Amino acid sequence: MSINGQGQLLHWLRGVKTLALTCRQWGDTGKGKFVDVLAEIWADVIFRGTGGGNAGHTIVINGKKYIFHLIPSGILHDSFGKINGIGRGVAADPYILCEELGILDREGMTYNNLMIALNAKLVLPCHLVEDRVRESNSDSGKIGTTGRGIGPLYKDHVGRIGLVVNDLLNKDIFVVKLRRNLKEKVRTLRTYDSEVVRKIMQHDHLEKGAYYNAKDIFNEDAIVEKYMAYGKRLRDMIQDTDAFLKNKVVGRMKLLLEGAQGDLLSVDEGTYPYVTSSDPTVPGLARGAGISEKAVDRVLGIVKAFYMTRVGSGPFPTEFGGRKSEDWCATEGVDKAREAALYPDADVNSRSPLAQGIGVRKAGDEYGATTSRPRRTGWLDLQLLRYAIGKSGPHVIFTKLDVLNMCRTIKICESYEYAGPKYRHGQKTLLPGDILNVAIPDSHVLQYCRPIYKCFPGWECDTAGATSVSDLPSKLRRIIDFVSKSAGVDPRILSIGADRNETIFV
Ligand code: GDP
Ligand code: IMO
Ligand code: MG
Repeated sequence: MSINGQGQLLHWLRGVKTLALTCRQWGDTGKGKFVDVLAEIWADVIFRGTGGGNAGHTIVINGKKYIFHLIPSGILHDSFGKINGIGRGVAADPYILCEELGILDREGMTYNNLMIALNAKLVLPCHLVEDRVRESNSDSGKIGTTGRGIGPLYKDHVGRIGLVVNDLLNKDIFVVKLRRNLKEKVRTLRTYDSEVVRKIMQHDHLEKGAYYNAKDIFNEDAIVEKYMAYGKRLRDMIQDTDAFLKNKVVGRMKLLLEGAQGDLLSVDEGTYPYVTSSDPTVPGLARGAGISEKAVDRVLGIVKAFYMTRVGSGPFPTEFGGRKSEDWCATEGVDKAREAALYPDADVNSRSPLAQGIGVRKAGDEYGATTSRPRRTGWLDLQLLRYAIGKSGPHVIFTKLDVLNMCRTIKICESYEYAGPKYRHGQKTLLPGDILNVAIPDSHVLQYCRPIYKCFPGWECDTAGATSVSDLPSKLRRIIDFVSKSAGVDPRILSIGADRNETIFV
């Protein structure tokens, strides 16, 4: 397949050996789509480096949808010899991996060139339990995690009691390490309501209670048996990927690093504590893939335009409907079908901000690829974009441009008015009424930032079929120019639909 105008991008990538594709927002910006496109037209090797089953990356080909959580989004090109790898920094959950391999098997797709780092961090059942128990207990401060064990997994790694994928290949060592890990986990879990723990352990991802033991919480034998079976299934794919990248790939083959999550979800750079537990920015991704950040020649950052989404808790200054939207999206049982039934008339022009947010969610199909939760929606925030760009560089892909096709007025947040109590931020003192032009990602500050918008007339027409920038309506191009200048970004690709072909190279 070739996509109209792809030559321009290939020209821009001339001489580039390592390209990182990451997200400048809170995730779900279309990484799956563009890893698939770049795997097709450019990359030889595709590696994930951060996150784990919390990610949900969607690829749409001729209307057919594939969602991958752990396997890199270049996998559909395996039969053409493209190599896909899960790097050392990934939270590797063998349950999810085996499920995804099963999907590929059923679809008749190959994964002959898939490799898994022997030192990737191994997700255990107790990680999921700890994650979910903490989230069920409001005293712990609800983050709205995906429940995939990510926080506890990385905590164990830093706490030096974690396991790695290679442990699946050595039963005796697995048992010793597991025992040590469970000892600590059980101590923690005993501080929670035992009935809540028992219920959580009935979940599908926890083999419907097979790992549960009323006396010791975990049935160690059941875990060992299942994990050794996973080891057998994955054995041929477990490799020293660090050595492979160093000796065969870096500087020789075209390597695409597939980001997960987004800059604003970084544990180091994001809106802490409402973040994930790995660092999805370029340095974190390179390190997690198993290479030096210095080896990255070029970076492409994805930006949803001209709105944003966020899943889970945390400040979101431009959210349509503010707190009401956050509470609504966190309500148990709210999903796409329920929302459509309750708000049949909500659309991108609804007068009430909450309904407008629901309208944008419907138009953009913004329901989680991992958890099906409604994604919170809000206008594009230039402060947060400037902050992310300042860390990661100017080259971007604007996705989802088609979602606001019928919107009468587009609002872009240019600056904030701080509306919180007096707050010392290092040497600065923030006072109510202060105007901020670059976001301070400190959640305490961000929660009190009120957006100041610049309004643009919408283009109010369909963008389908556009293959070059000149095919796009002038009102849309004007907003792209405004955002590019104000945030200092250089758009290389525009996306006007989920399908591979709905792509415009600039
Ligand atoms: P990722 O986590 O960054 O890979 O993104 P997700 O797959 O979680 O969410 C992005 C969603 O938007 C998916 O459903 C994609 O199929 C879809 N998508 C990607 N690009 C576009 C686009 O330009 N327009 C529209 N309407 N949908 C898109
Ligand atoms: P992709 O790769 C959107 C969010 C969760 C929660 C927070 C912590 O598809 O863009 P975690 O389970 O990681 O401990 O949850 O991070 N989160 C994501 N939001 N896209 C993702 O991945 C996400 N991965 C984690 O919703 O707010
Ligand atoms: Mg996603």
